[in-house]
This record gives sequence, C-alpha cells and structure tokens, in this order.
Amino acid sequence: MADTPDNVTVIDHPLVQHKLGLMRRKETSTVDFRQLLREIALLIGYEVTRDLPMTRVEIETPLTKMMAPRIDGKKLVFISILRAGNGLLEGLLDLAPSARVGHIGLYRDPKTLEPVEYYFKVPQDLAERQVIVVDPMLATGNSAAAAISRIKDRGARDIKFVCLLAAPEGLKTMHEKHPELPIYTASIDEYLNDHGYIVPGLGDAGDRIYGTK
Ligand code: URA
Repeated sequence: MADTPDNVTVIDHPLVQHKLGLMRRKETSTVDFRQLLREIALLIGYEVTRDLPMTRVEIETPLTKMMAPRIDGKKLVFISILRAGNGLLEGLLDLAPSARVGHIGLYRDPKTLEPVEYYFKVPQDLAERQVIVVDPMLATGNSAAAAISRIKDRGARDIKFVCLLAAPEGLKTMHEKHPELPIYTASIDEYLNDHGYIVPGLGDAGDRIYGTK
C-alpha cells in the first residue's frame, strides 16, 4: 500500500514494534505470545483513547482544593471479535477496567472466506458509548466489516477498530464498507496469501494465543 489512508493510524512506537517483532517469530511460545499481545494492546489502547473527552472536577489534595482532569462523557465499550479478539481485550481492560464488554462470534467459511455469525452479545446502550472493536488480524476484512455493520445496526455511532496487523486487502474492504471508520494497527503487512493468511504476518492468531496447534 503506497500511502496510509487518512483514517488509518499505524502505531509505530518502538515498544509496539519491538514486541510485534517478537510475536511474529515462529518459535515464540504460547505464553510469551499471549503476554506480548496483552502488552501491545495496552500500548495501542493508550493511542486509541488519546482523544477521550475530558472535563475538570473539584478535588481536595492534602494541601488545597484544585480542579483535576477527569475523563468525561461517553463510557467505553470494547467489543471483541471471537476468538482472537479476546487476546487484545485483556490488555485494553488492563487500561480501562470499568469498560463494558461485548462479544461477536464470526468464523470464516474456509471455502468462501465469508463471515458466518454464531454469537452476538453486546451492551444495550451502544448509542451512548464509544465503541472500540478489536480483532488482531484484519485479513480479508469481511468479518470485521460484518461486525461493524451489526454494531451500527444496534445503534453505535462512535466506533473505532483496533487490530495488530492489517492486510492492504482488509483495509480496502473496510474503506469500501465503512469509509469513515478510524482504524488503528501496529503494521500494514504485504498481502494475503491464497489461504487468507496475512504475509509476512504471524500465523493464526487464535492458535498462537491459545496454543491450539
Ligand atoms: N487470521 C489469522 O489469525 N491470521 C491471518 O494471517 C489471517 C487471519
């Protein structure tokens, strides 16, 4: 991809890039992979929440009264696209423990690579919340785009999408289906192979998080 589209933020912080390099290595163990993902999620979450609206409230320190900054307005909800999304979710919840959490279960039909929904549970009041949808791998983009459509149908208007790796093909799909959506990623990789894997990528994120292969 020649230029990064305006709505896509690549988080090039050295800590994120270093940890991502470790995660990509095929010899990285399940326990290390999971821990690194949790740490990266926290660092990405720091960037994603940078524009949360702020207010000031009066507090009293041991010395005096002051107007102290406090996060204002909409409450956060994290929505994880199962199952690999849960790996990113852990780190985001370390950052914002009181956020609400939703889950969407979608699997890719191995022949068509199209998403098939098998689970959907999200908080009721999505219209009043800032929604951050998480899935480590934006590959074809079909599952993520379908998840965003479902969330919009449920009233969400303020949505961001967070992944670890994005394929140019996935970014294109997302741009076609949800052109306004802000996307945060640690890397835009080269391409998708014939099996729908991101190259160079890191393999199957779910298998690597849960040690299922
Ligand atoms: N999902 C994964 O887990 N890995 C890929 O490379 C693509 C989709």
